[in-house]
Amino acid sequence: MTATSKVAVPNRPAHIKDIPGESGWPILGHTLTMLKDPEGFHQRMKAKYGPIYRSNAFFQNQISLSGPEANELLLLDKEQNFSSEKGWAPYIERLFPRGLMLMDFDEHKAHRHIMAAAFKTGPMKGYLERLNDAMPDRIAQWGKQGSFKFYPAIKKLSLDMASSVFLGLEPGTENKGVNKALTDMVSAAMGIVRVPIPGTMMHKGVQARKFMIAFLKKLIPERRQSSGTDLFTQLCQAQDENGKKFTDQEIIDHMIFLWMAAHDTITSSVTTLVYELGRNPIWQQKLRGEINGLGLNDGRLPYELLNKLTLTEYAFKESLRMNPPVPAVPRKTVREIAFGGHRIPKDAIVGISTVATHRSGDIWENPSKFDPMRFSPEGGAKTRHRFAWIPFGGGAHMCVGLHFAYMQAKVIMAHLLPHYSIELEDGYTTEFQIMPLIRPKDGLPVTMKAIDT
Ligand code: HEM
Repeated sequence: MTATSKVAVPNRPAHIKDIPGESGWPILGHTLTMLKDPEGFHQRMKAKYGPIYRSNAFFQNQISLSGPEANELLLLDKEQNFSSEKGWAPYIERLFPRGLMLMDFDEHKAHRHIMAAAFKTGPMKGYLERLNDAMPDRIAQWGKQGSFKFYPAIKKLSLDMASSVFLGLEPGTENKGVNKALTDMVSAAMGIVRVPIPGTMMHKGVQARKFMIAFLKKLIPERRQSSGTDLFTQLCQAQDENGKKFTDQEIIDHMIFLWMAAHDTITSSVTTLVYELGRNPIWQQKLRGEINGLGLNDGRLPYELLNKLTLTEYAFKESLRMNPPVPAVPRKTVREIAFGGHRIPKDAIVGISTVATHRSGDIWENPSKFDPMRFSPEGGAKTRHRFAWIPFGGGAHMCVGLHFAYMQAKVIMAHLLPHYSIELEDGYTTEFQIMPLIRPKDGLPVTMKAIDT
């Protein structure tokens, strides 16, 4: 047994029932409560049973851990106690098998090493060019609409971006089928029904995956040779220092997974940013000033200037703090461990809550206030526990696309804010649904008002 903290060890293996907690309703357990109000549920259970408690949701018992030390234990996982593959499998394995999050330890390291080639500076510059190409038209469409719901609009923009940046499809080519297939897969992954019975979302998702496999497979031979600047082409050609490349099936699995990992997360985080900028016009003006101060040629944001958008980055980080798109991270223990005075058995599903950590008054002063300066050196960024802010996870499975996410958020802002003011109705607030991914329940009605130049 790995001793992470001292605990009395009875003379038998640990059992999940040793952990304080409850099982909820028969069969469904706490699933519905958790889907409806995961944060409230977490606070109630924590108050009743302490920071480590047992519950039952999505047809399995699970142990919840709270606080930055618990986040560090699970994410950094120095002793390789936790399987990401077995933690995520019940939720996403059927539709997104063999993605990076569904691999562990040595195998995971080897695949991540090859994939890293597709996220180096050269390829990233290519993705940024594609984003810069596509953005003005899309933003102008928002401007023409004037008032609209932001969440569905950014979802559509994200899908169109993904066709170009991820798949290298030119506008007008076969991207409707692809967009639908990808959307069906993500919706299915979020549904409660996990069996592909005809008529269910899961059935649609399974069909969509078949479509995507055939679609990508056909393109691989050409993409292995091409000079394309999209992520798919980069993945087809990525190799480690020994020249090891992905097989065709590995490319397909990683590609589908990457798309899923990027899509709703960027959509969700940019939605929060737009909401907070609408509610905080002073911050909106600060970001606009910062972007205008770059003196961009034709409005295009070059790679070399990304780092100059310091306030924009703080504002994006603060949005990710308030509404982390991935609200919780699950793992399965591969051996018994001890933590916080409890023995956690082998093969237990263990989870940490990103959202509870990010909204904790013990860590953040006035957590419901939008205050991007928390991320400045003088605002505490250097002194805070390094696992107090974990929107991208941490350790071996830390998000491979985090720089891509910053880049996309900045490029959207760079094309939007100089031309339009984001306005919300007086006194408007929205409510965010947390599970499975954070999004505004009402779609976030906004007005984009043209700025006279
Ligand atoms: C704001 C946007 C994003 C957020 C909040 C986010 C969040 C996360 C989190 C929390 C994890 C770790 C999960 C775990 O440890 O179990 C993760 C992993 C991952 N993300 Fe992201 N992500 C974002 C954008 C992206 C983008 C744009 C891409 C691809 C271009 C991407 C690709 C991945 C991949 C492949 C993994 C798995 C890494 C591994 O297992 O080694 N993500 N992401």
